[in-house]
Amino acid sequence: MLETKNLNSPKIVYLKDYKIPDYQITTIDLHFHLKAEHTTIRSQLAISRYLGAKPSPLVLDSEELELLSIKLNGQILTEKDYQQDTKSLTLHSVPDQFTLVIETRIYPQHNTALSGLYISSNNFCTQCEAEGFRRITYFLDRPDIMARYTTTIVANKASYPVLLSNGNLIAHGDHAHGDHFAKWEDPFPKPSYLFALVAGTLSKIEDEFITSSGRKVTLSIYVQPHNIDKCEHAMASLKRAMAWDEQVYGREYDLDNYMIVAVDDFNMGAMENKGLNIFNSKYILAKPETATDTDYQYIEGVIGHEYFHNWSGNRVTCRDWFQLSLKEGFTVFRDQQFSASRGSPTVKRIQDVNHLRTYQFKEDSGPMAHPIRPESYAEINNFYTTTVYEKGAEVVRMLYQLLGPKGFRKGTDLYFNRHDGQAVTTDEFVRSLEDANNADFSQFRLWYRQAGTPELHASGVYDPKKNTYTLTVKQTCQATPSQSHKDPFHIPLALGLLDSKGNDLPLRLAGESTPIAGTRVMELRQAEEVFIFKDIPHKPIPSLLRNFSAPVKLHLNLSDEERCFLLAHDSNNFNRWEAGHQLAVKILLNLIRDYQQGKPFQLNLTFIAAIGKILTGNEPDKAFVTHALTLPSEHYLSEFMAIIDPEAIYQAHRFLRQNLAENLKDSFSAMYESLRQTDPYRFTPKDIGRRALRNTCLGYLMELNDPDIYHQCFQQFIQADNMTDTIAALSTLVHTESPERDNALHIFYEKWHQDPLVMDKWLSIQAISRRPDTLKIVKQLTQRSVFKLTNPNKVRALIGAFCQHNPVNFHATNGEGYSFLGDYILKLDPLNPQIAARLVSVFNLWRRYDNKRQILMKEQLERIANVSKISKDVQEIVIKSLN
Ligand code: TRP
Ligand code: ZN
Repeated sequence: MLETKNLNSPKIVYLKDYKIPDYQITTIDLHFHLKAEHTTIRSQLAISRYLGAKPSPLVLDSEELELLSIKLNGQILTEKDYQQDTKSLTLHSVPDQFTLVIETRIYPQHNTALSGLYISSNNFCTQCEAEGFRRITYFLDRPDIMARYTTTIVANKASYPVLLSNGNLIAHGDHAHGDHFAKWEDPFPKPSYLFALVAGTLSKIEDEFITSSGRKVTLSIYVQPHNIDKCEHAMASLKRAMAWDEQVYGREYDLDNYMIVAVDDFNMGAMENKGLNIFNSKYILAKPETATDTDYQYIEGVIGHEYFHNWSGNRVTCRDWFQLSLKEGFTVFRDQQFSASRGSPTVKRIQDVNHLRTYQFKEDSGPMAHPIRPESYAEINNFYTTTVYEKGAEVVRMLYQLLGPKGFRKGTDLYFNRHDGQAVTTDEFVRSLEDANNADFSQFRLWYRQAGTPELHASGVYDPKKNTYTLTVKQTCQATPSQSHKDPFHIPLALGLLDSKGNDLPLRLAGESTPIAGTRVMELRQAEEVFIFKDIPHKPIPSLLRNFSAPVKLHLNLSDEERCFLLAHDSNNFNRWEAGHQLAVKILLNLIRDYQQGKPFQLNLTFIAAIGKILTGNEPDKAFVTHALTLPSEHYLSEFMAIIDPEAIYQAHRFLRQNLAENLKDSFSAMYESLRQTDPYRFTPKDIGRRALRNTCLGYLMELNDPDIYHQCFQQFIQADNMTDTIAALSTLVHTESPERDNALHIFYEKWHQDPLVMDKWLSIQAISRRPDTLKIVKQLTQRSVFKLTNPNKVRALIGAFCQHNPVNFHATNGEGYSFLGDYILKLDPLNPQIAARLVSVFNLWRRYDNKRQILMKEQLERIANVSKISKDVQEIVIKSLN
């Protein structure tokens, strides 16, 4: 246990303690008077006791609220009628049914936590998920309280001409003293976390969408006036998302208007408030000169994500926060499907799998490991994790595979119809899928309860006499904090067996009459499963876990030649990439070991030849080729090491990159030239793939440290008409000591210093430079006016990028990276605990490093733990890390 004195553990909330609320709030009538110095809020609540609930005190949630007055059925209450502490307001006795009117004062201009009502670029905006509504007014701030909202906003007309809230505008007009008002009504009952309000000086672009049943929906995107030329892509994405949800899930939009507001200060990506989404401006604003292809793709994905929440989250919401994956896992799966339909599905899958294996697998192996439906939390904001989101999406994807597209659709239809207007659990989601298909997912439900990444050990034996191929698959799962024992999971294992030409053999199991052609999904349920495939004419090459059919680690012994064969021939493109990727991992791990043992590096000619073949092989999907040419990240490689050695990983990685560059120089050059842009920038899958591959070639060529290539790279930087090519050039120049580097950074700054999102790129690029003086530069950048501690995008761009994406510099053995991060966590925690807690998680894997680094990281964790007024956000993570 911990010796540090201030860590009296915060209060823990448990799933097993869930109780249906005693009271119900049917309507809430809100009245906001917004002023620069303070805001007053009058809230009128219609409350009734649930049938059968015994009379009990009414406990309303609150955080940092100033209570002005309370009236119950018109009677002013005095201090003997209620009791207040820092978290709640308790009314000792209340009737069965009553009206409560509460007046509150808050100070949005001092709200740096960006939760509740706050100010961003002089505009008012809100963020209520998960528990921000209690920072606006006293309420039963939990998602199973679903009320109808009306919201009146009063503010100075000159400073805040635009006044928005959820639903429909039902009245507006002028008041005395230069004020005006707007009244909004949301016809759909909703949980408080979906409430939103925006007021300020904003410009909008407008469009419309006709739903499949013929209703007209007005679409508006509101931004600060100078950004009005950067909204078109977001609008086009929104219309595509609306059409897609009708086609694929039969889900129509339900209000007459859909509004999106972009704000610069935002803790996360975006928020699905009913009818009034609020977005981090990063996921709205784009034009070719300022945003990269990746930005364009993220924008489309996030717009889709928030739009899809209208059904998976808003119409059907979560009973409690343990059910978060009900809406997030499902909605991420939906946005992944949407994005896959917009370009190459294989490439989208590769990206998602890379992300999952890099970040979620890490989380699952550390002190914060939790099931997609956690059992407990101290601070719910700490559970908006890659496990709940991305692993949650994998779990939904497995259900999709087990049922097939038609069965899955039957299930989601039943789910949406059965639970429309309700706050439900993940169990009810699974039950709808079962009921619609007569399926039994009782064992499958373990995926919701058990944390950890299952491991599959597969081995195949060919019997030439019987013409059978016997595949044995064993599953295990390592212990995670508070879960030592794991039961076997129900796992869909998609596979094929390749003949010598690379064709899929038809697969027939003993007892079956007709074989199945192509990919076949086997279901694993026991700790060990044996499958015997019949009529296999010769020894096949197995292609397992196609499309990454389950979020597991697969161990299968294949030779380098077999992996190269799969890379060249597998009928499943995802597994082609996977074969090359696994070969690269193996080679890199060998190089790492050589480095640690002081042996000279050796090249692997098989690998170089295989990569060369992909590069010159006329593969039409250039984005696919790009991924096949991209080595596993340093971050990802650390996953495979018992003791992580950032220096060895870095050196091995650099060696292999340089090696590929030297051996394939001519092919990279030729490809770089042949992919030169001829037409103006377009955002199409083909052009995106072309730019990506060309820039990957440039990245390799830059490994050669050739002044001519530096010059060529600088020319690309100067001449590009789009941010994708500009950034590609700058982000590789930044590793060098060349004069072009400083020159390019300077030119870029001069051109873009007025644009905060572009400056985020400028900060990040410098923060992830491999140059050894990077920390010094990062520290200097924190002093520049483009950096702001109160803006999460800036913190992520500079401090987050350095600490998470520059392992060799961050983990320098002098410990300076660690104390730098420690300093910033302590500076940030009083301002924005959510962001501080995200940063402190960087230390979570401290036990995986060598002794020296362990001591240094632990020192920082203890230093943070010893601060008396630390937030429960940071505290929860630090405690779990140290225990
Ligand atoms: N529901 C949001 C999403 O996934 C997540 C979110 C946005 C959020 N802002 C937040 C979660 C602030 C916690 C705190 O789309
Ligand atoms: Zn979401």
